[in-house]
Amino acid sequence: MNKKIWLFTTATFISALLVRSSYAQQLYKEMYRPQIHFSPKEKWTNDPNGMVYYNGTWHLFFQYYPDSTVWGPMHWGHATSKDLVHWQQQPIALYPDSLGYIFSGSAVVDKNNTSGLGKNGQAPLVAIFTHHDPHGEKEGRNNFQNQSIAYSLDNGKTWKKYAGNPVLKNPGITDFRDPKVMWYEQQHKWIMTLATKDRITFYSSPDLKNWTKESEFGSDVGAHGGVWECPDLFALDDNGKKIWVLIVNVNPGGPNGGSATQYFIGDFDGNKFTPLYRDTRWLDYGPDEYAGITWSNTGNRKIFLGWMSNWLYANVVPTKTWRNAMTIPRELKLKHVGKEIFITQQPVAELNTLQSKPVVLQNVKVKNSFDVGASTGKIALPVRLDLSLVPSKDLSVILSNNAGEQVVIGYDNQKKEYFIDRTKSGNISFQKDFAGRHVAPRISRASDLNCSLIIDVSSVELFADGGLTGMTETFFPTSPFNNIRIGSAEGIVIKKLSYSPLRSIW
Ligand code: FRU
Repeated sequence: MNKKIWLFTTATFISALLVRSSYAQQLYKEMYRPQIHFSPKEKWTNDPNGMVYYNGTWHLFFQYYPDSTVWGPMHWGHATSKDLVHWQQQPIALYPDSLGYIFSGSAVVDKNNTSGLGKNGQAPLVAIFTHHDPHGEKEGRNNFQNQSIAYSLDNGKTWKKYAGNPVLKNPGITDFRDPKVMWYEQQHKWIMTLATKDRITFYSSPDLKNWTKESEFGSDVGAHGGVWECPDLFALDDNGKKIWVLIVNVNPGGPNGGSATQYFIGDFDGNKFTPLYRDTRWLDYGPDEYAGITWSNTGNRKIFLGWMSNWLYANVVPTKTWRNAMTIPRELKLKHVGKEIFITQQPVAELNTLQSKPVVLQNVKVKNSFDVGASTGKIALPVRLDLSLVPSKDLSVILSNNAGEQVVIGYDNQKKEYFIDRTKSGNISFQKDFAGRHVAPRISRASDLNCSLIIDVSSVELFADGGLTGMTETFFPTSPFNNIRIGSAEGIVIKKLSYSPLRSIW
């Protein structure tokens, strides 16, 4: 090689290395980048998909558009975790094809190889998803969404689409999507819970390839401010008794505007779902949890995770390299309140591994305002804050920065209501519905109020009363929040305050 060429090649190589390492240094450190929540390295994400636990690995697939930070032709992105906390992004699992984009769906472990897709004793992982044909949609047809399957024989690393797709054809319903499949042991069959416009349709199958309609549910019950999407059906233990839960996401029509997750409690007999109550219940009252469903193959544990955004503004939030993230994984349980049964959600215990030693304060007397940082030292998000008190007066937790921007999370004692107010949270101008004060009822009747706040650099998740009331909210201050104050105009005593910084997962 002559000297000039050699110099040129070396210089190009070194500058490529430098660009790469500065990219690596900046990655996951950008302004607003969630530090304890999964978000893709770059580009667009919406719903979590195909969540399955298998051979010690948590799989999280997600609606993904690798070419832009706005929604487009959908792929299934893929991330894995060994501990439900730290995530590694993997190569794209499913690409669009001649049948269309890859919309939302689920994944199961086909232990008995009912599908026959397994090989040499290796049980297949089977993904069940919606093929969305954009041409059919453009032409105004009503059957452009169909259900298909793909399988993996290498622990979810690579996926092959089934040659006989689609496996469930559209009977002429414009919104016919988001299959969530589970094994119904009592009758040895698979149950698919499918969102079909304004209701859920249940299908069953012996082999994941041939599907028969079982029943419909919900056209006359629950919230119908928008189309039903991303459902989930599973049983939870209620003191040794099985209680069935049906999750139904709806967009728009959420309790605080836009998209949100509602749930029904009842019974499922392999054919139909019968609800115990007819009132509308929200799994998360905040504006920023949507499309939430649970992992499959987790035994008695049920772990839920949602998309941390809202269709009202998901395409225009002010992030640059990536757009949107997932919530913290949450463990779901049941709780009796009076004569009724509700769902509770709590951050998974695994999250504690990010926690440094908490600062614990007892009997903190708050008159007007108490500066948390004065007792804990410099505040740098992400952090976890746990409070317990007797809710005799109003109370608020105020996150703020030096620019005077703030998010207020509070409890209104008269209305027995939690709220999160982001009207002055900084960058709010990207969409007219973003700024606002959002409310959620206190469902608990307990005399003590316990709540946990998981606060990341651009989101807060409130788990109140052991998770009976949940709220998720995002925010975009012009400089990071570095103050936490507790406010109470009438004065209140906090029995116990626990504050812990959380380590970044990246
Ligand atoms: C919900 C949803 C699903 C659909 C997917 C498309 O957010 O609209 O119903 O499968 O997103 O990306």
